[in-house]
Amino acid sequence: MITMRILVTGGLGFIGSHFCRHILSKHPDYELINLDKMGIGANPASLQDIQDNPNYRFIKGDICNIPLLHKTVSQVDAVVNFAAETHVDRSISDPYAFVQNNTIGTYTVLDAVRKHNMRARMVQVSTDEVYGTAVQGSFTERDPPSPSNPYSASKAAADMFVLSYFKTYKLNVSITRCTNNFGEYQLPEKLIPKTIIRALKDLSIPVYGTGTNIRDWIYVQDHCAAVATVLEKGVAGEIYNVSAGNEVTNIEIVKKILGFLDKPESLITFVEDRPGHDVRYSLDSSKLQSQLGWRPEFSFKDALESTVKWYLENERWWSPFATRDVLSSTPWKASVSR
Ligand SMILES: NC(=O)c1ccc[n+]([C@@H]2O[C@H](COP(=O)([O-])OP(=O)(O)OC[C@H]3O[C@@H](n4cnc5c(N)ncnc54)[C@H](O)[C@@H]3O)[C@@H](O)[C@H]2O)c1
Repeated sequence: MITMRILVTGGLGFIGSHFCRHILSKHPDYELINLDKMGIGANPASLQDIQDNPNYRFIKGDICNIPLLHKTVSQVDAVVNFAAETHVDRSISDPYAFVQNNTIGTYTVLDAVRKHNMRARMVQVSTDEVYGTAVQGSFTERDPPSPSNPYSASKAAADMFVLSYFKTYKLNVSITRCTNNFGEYQLPEKLIPKTIIRALKDLSIPVYGTGTNIRDWIYVQDHCAAVATVLEKGVAGEIYNVSAGNEVTNIEIVKKILGFLDKPESLITFVEDRPGHDVRYSLDSSKLQSQLGWRPEFSFKDALESTVKWYLENERWWSPFATRDVLSSTPWKASVSR
């Protein structure tokens, strides 16, 4: 018997696809609708293993499509909004797509819940990037947003709509803000897969600026477990930071990957830094840990090593995406006409 129906948006993307698999494997009594517009980042091949599951249904659609959202939201008990444009570099060359999909898209989801299913529980999947650079210490949920680029600004604006819908309409909605994810099925434009793929092809590895920017890494499966915890136990109107305490400079990550692949560090080339590049991200996730009982389970080193192995063994998955544009050294310079 089905006990819960969940709408996952953006479930063909990197994290959304892991989340769909996570939910269906942990809860055989849940039904899941995955609504994804099949934009950049989407790959149906990432969910081949569950596409015949009777509790899984895919709808090709845009979260900005109001009638579609209204109809779909009215059929479920919960909504988890992953759908977004996600690549900071692309947000610098094409900010419009980020405002449209991330801010207006989230508003459309919220409004569909308000008008058609006030009983639904909702989780908005946000990002640590809304806080901007962490000069000292680690951000808590009480720190104000201070975004540095169009991507993080569009996500911060979406968060403001979420909080306003809680305060004004009493929507049962919480926000998660997670640090940088890594793992299997991540699009080659992001740092870790790009480094692996370029190293495998013996191409130079572009590192922005001096490579000293720090990211707080988390394995994607730990993030999915955190979102599931917030969906189940989170308090409406609350924000939950998600992090695993793995602060590493970009140059260290690149060197670790080259080490796993037995490739020379001479492949590293320092390239022009991207504009508005945050120096350090760091989150305090003690609220999620102490109040809801979530803990990261995976060791950074083991998860990174198994991710590298996965890319070695799954060239058929990533090769259609490994184009010159995607692997470019300075993607934010790409011109977009609109
Ligand atoms: N990747 C990270 O490190 C990270 C960290 C923290 C938070 N997040 C957040 O997690 C979410 C997922 O990130 P990801 O890395 O999996 O992204 P991704 O780019 O791999 O996937 C995004 C998915 O959303 C879909 N999508 C985009 N706009 C849509 C729209 N208007 N309607 C329907 N579908 C749409 C795309 O087709 C794609 O399948 C995002 O909201 C992102 O801000 C990501």
